[in-house]
Amino acid sequence: MTRKILGTLVVGALLVVWGCAASQHKTAQAGPSELTGASVWSWMQEQSYQSWTMWPGKSALYKGREPHGMLLTTYVNGPAGHAAKYNKRPMPEGAVIVKENYKPTKELAAITVMVKSKGYNPDGGDWWWAKYGPDGTTLKEGTVGGCLNCHGMEKGNDYILTDTDHQHDKHK
Ligand code: HEC
Repeated sequence: MTRKILGTLVVGALLVVWGCAASQHKTAQAGPSELTGASVWSWMQEQSYQSWTMWPGKSALYKGREPHGMLLTTYVNGPAGHAAKYNKRPMPEGAVIVKENYKPTKELAAITVMVKSKGYNPDGGDWWWAKYGPDGTTLKEGTVGGCLNCHGMEKGNDYILTDTDHQHDKHK
């Protein structure tokens, strides 16, 4: 009898733990619901984006190419991380990539963000773009021509330039 009760308790506890893990997983999967500079920034803070995984194979403050400053730290949320890891393109709905751009002195210079939102801009891979100052001030947001021009050289790679080393030199 006691064993039966114990068993039930254990199963119950496991279900609760599993339920919490599942719901957390679900929250982590969803992208921001509103695409404005300010709301995406606060969503990023709620998400503690710095606790996300980094781009597979990249560690903090890796040496980047122009124009994003010398040292980069690139975070990916669940959907973006999965697509990056398995090299899946286009990236799925809700994929978010946050890249911190540091000066050679390791001072944060800017934060650039890409959010995949189906129907947002089909001509531009449905990416929403933003650039923030270190304090979170929105500097650029939306369908930013400059971002699209340069990232557009990798349309076939869903506008992603990381790990496409050859491209930047080729288009200089
Ligand atoms: C002149 C070219 C150029 C412009 C303009 C540019 N980028 Fe990039 N971006 C790059 C390159 C090159 C990389 C890869 C960095 C690396 O690994 O060294 C990159 C990487 C990124 C990444 C990481 C994901 C990826 O695509 O690899 C994000 C996010 C990003 N850029 C956002 C932006 C935003 C937002 C803008 C506009 C405000 C912008 N970029 C403008 C060249 C550019």
